[in-house]
Amino acid sequence: MGIRIVGTGSYVPATIRTNADLEKLVDTNDEWIRTRTGIEERRIAGADETSSTMAIQAVERALAQSGIEGQDLDAIVLATITPDHIFPNTAALIQHHFQCKKAFCFDLSAACAGFVSAMETGFSMMKAFPEKYRRVLICGSDKLSVIVDWTDRNTCILFGDGAGCVLLENDGTDTPDCLLTSRLFADGGYTDVLQIPAGGSFMPASEESVRNHKHFIYMEGRETFKLAVNAMVSASEEVLAKAGVTTDQIALVIPHQANLRIIQAVAKRLGVGDDRVYCNIQRYGNTSSASIGLALDEACRTGRLKRGDLVLFTTFGGGLAWGAMLIRY
Ligand SMILES: CC(C)(COP(=O)(O)OP(=O)(O)OC[C@H]1O[C@@H](n2cnc3c(N)ncnc32)[C@H](O)[C@@H]1OP(=O)(O)O)[C@@H](O)C(=O)NCCC(=O)NCCS
Repeated sequence: MGIRIVGTGSYVPATIRTNADLEKLVDTNDEWIRTRTGIEERRIAGADETSSTMAIQAVERALAQSGIEGQDLDAIVLATITPDHIFPNTAALIQHHFQCKKAFCFDLSAACAGFVSAMETGFSMMKAFPEKYRRVLICGSDKLSVIVDWTDRNTCILFGDGAGCVLLENDGTDTPDCLLTSRLFADGGYTDVLQIPAGGSFMPASEESVRNHKHFIYMEGRETFKLAVNAMVSASEEVLAKAGVTTDQIALVIPHQANLRIIQAVAKRLGVGDDRVYCNIQRYGNTSSASIGLALDEACRTGRLKRGDLVLFTTFGGGLAWGAMLIRY
């Protein structure tokens, strides 16, 4: 079996919101945001853009690169925490756009660990049922600007909108698979650290929930920071050990883009130099489910990655959900 990445794609909205723009919304400043997070600007989707429309743009690029037609997809796994609707699932909207009538579609909610979780799921489906799932689209797309409280300086500086995807194809040969090993974790005991309190069955939407800003991201920043570094490092070490790969052999680490200081702390503890760590957080902030897919696409298209390179993904987010994945591009 040879499951390979045959296309990557990404999309970010045209509108840029800089740190200077945020200074007009909340009591913050460019210097604070840059030094604490590394973020300089983020993209904000237009009123007519949604998680599905951004994903569709990214998918167009991946399909064009691969030469595969949308209608030939066997499954679409979409990671998002900002679906267009509660139901139908947003993957079905992508399926409708590309008219891939036979594709099995579903959304997956793992916040910032979404992209890697979708990759794990789609790849596992291909391994388990190669006849059914030959071409699987893995996508992460989030319009976080609609769940960010633009009056809360603790969170609004961090997030942005975007989409990223990969197209996996099983070419039926004995070429080694692109996914070497992975390890994903979750711990539901930390909902008080990172969550959107309202809008689900726990706290349905009401006038009160809207008035109290309960439909926006709530985060304990300092606590999240500490948990993130430890979790990303230990998951990465476990995956590398399992694969028998040393950090010297890794061409590029693509970490979830949550905070430049988190990324640097993880890289330092893994003993990987900055030149082998991909960062685009400066331009996009944290795009949650899209983050690693977006970074992967940029790394491929700008020549930072070459065919055969080993790449380590490491991720962390609400859930808590975190993990690491080793792939060969
Ligand atoms: C949010 C985060 C940037 C805050 O940085 P920090 O260094 O931990 O800052 P603290 O929360 O300790 O706040 C330090 C001070 O800055 C203030 N502050 C917070 N946000 C601010 C802002 N945007 N501008 C200016 N000051 C701000 C705080 O009120 C606090 O003031 P005080 O000391 O008078 O109480 C950082 O904790 C972080 O990135 N955490 C992880 C976030 C994350 O990854 N989330 C998603 C996981 S996928």
